[in-house]
Amino acid sequence: MDLGIKGKTALVTASSAGLGKNTAHALAAEGANIVLFARSADALQTVADEIAGTHGVRVLPVRGDMLSSADVDALAAAIAAEFGGLDILVLNTGRAPNPLRATVDETEEARWHAAYNNQLWGAIQVAKTVIPLMRGRGWGRIVAITSASVKSPMPHHSLSTVFRAGMTAYIKHLANEIGAEGITANCVAPALIDTSHRVGAAAYTPEQAAARKKLTPLGRMGRQEELTGVVTFLTSMQAGFITGSTILVEGGMVGSLI
Ligand SMILES: NC(=O)c1ccc[n+]([C@@H]2O[C@H](COP(=O)([O-])OP(=O)(O)OC[C@H]3O[C@@H](n4cnc5c(N)ncnc54)[C@H](OP(=O)(O)O)[C@@H]3O)[C@@H](O)[C@H]2O)c1
Repeated sequence: MDLGIKGKTALVTASSAGLGKNTAHALAAEGANIVLFARSADALQTVADEIAGTHGVRVLPVRGDMLSSADVDALAAAIAAEFGGLDILVLNTGRAPNPLRATVDETEEARWHAAYNNQLWGAIQVAKTVIPLMRGRGWGRIVAITSASVKSPMPHHSLSTVFRAGMTAYIKHLANEIGAEGITANCVAPALIDTSHRVGAAAYTPEQAAARKKLTPLGRMGRQEELTGVVTFLTSMQAGFITGSTILVEGGMVGSLI
């Protein structure tokens, strides 16, 4: 199926590793030109070289922090200079502060501020700054990666869930406001996606991984491409009548009927 995004310009935030990097690869495989944004210049350049070499598309790596307004302004300026506008925006973020705790034990103001900045404000700051580059083109796609916790809160995830719910509301407002311009806005809400690319304390222990597999009827973790494929579909021509929605990618973990 031709997804109709060949030659489109796609920004993927938080894209030097993990889901962001793999989403950038998936969009590039469909022929989209890619803008990468993250804080580690060397890692970004490596990803840019990989994507350009594998998929033959144009790749613009921009080093910066989603929490820095100056960096995000520079990102928008770089996109305008290189591509003259933006068609696809994938809002990925870094993870909530570690370690995860029960809600009643989340008493540190600094952790709440860090989670707000990381899970919500950074993404809004990017969106509000680059959406002007998307308007007036008659077509656009915005996809935010949130968490299945917005549908069924997972234990010890309140630092994430509270702000992912905020992101879900932000995306719904955007969908309502700019849909008439041909721009859709949706969320993809994952859980249990394998993150064995992570090292050290950020990775699941074998015991945690075994326990997590039992949370889904499929009895396994999800693969990165099972998440990035859904994100890519939402950026497609064929997904043009889906907006303001959240698509779960959690292997059936959430127990509700719809
Ligand atoms: N795996 C799942 O099942 C699951 C479920 C729910 C939600 N999620 C969410 O999916 C997202 C991605 O997960 P992941 O496993 O791919 O994470 P990851 O491997 O830790 O990668 C995070 C990426 O974010 C970048 N980043 C972090 N803070 C940034 C900032 N302030 N500005 C710019 N870039 C920043 C990092 O690059 P630099 O360090 O170079 O900046 C890196 O490229 C996370 O928000 C996670 O919570 C995942």
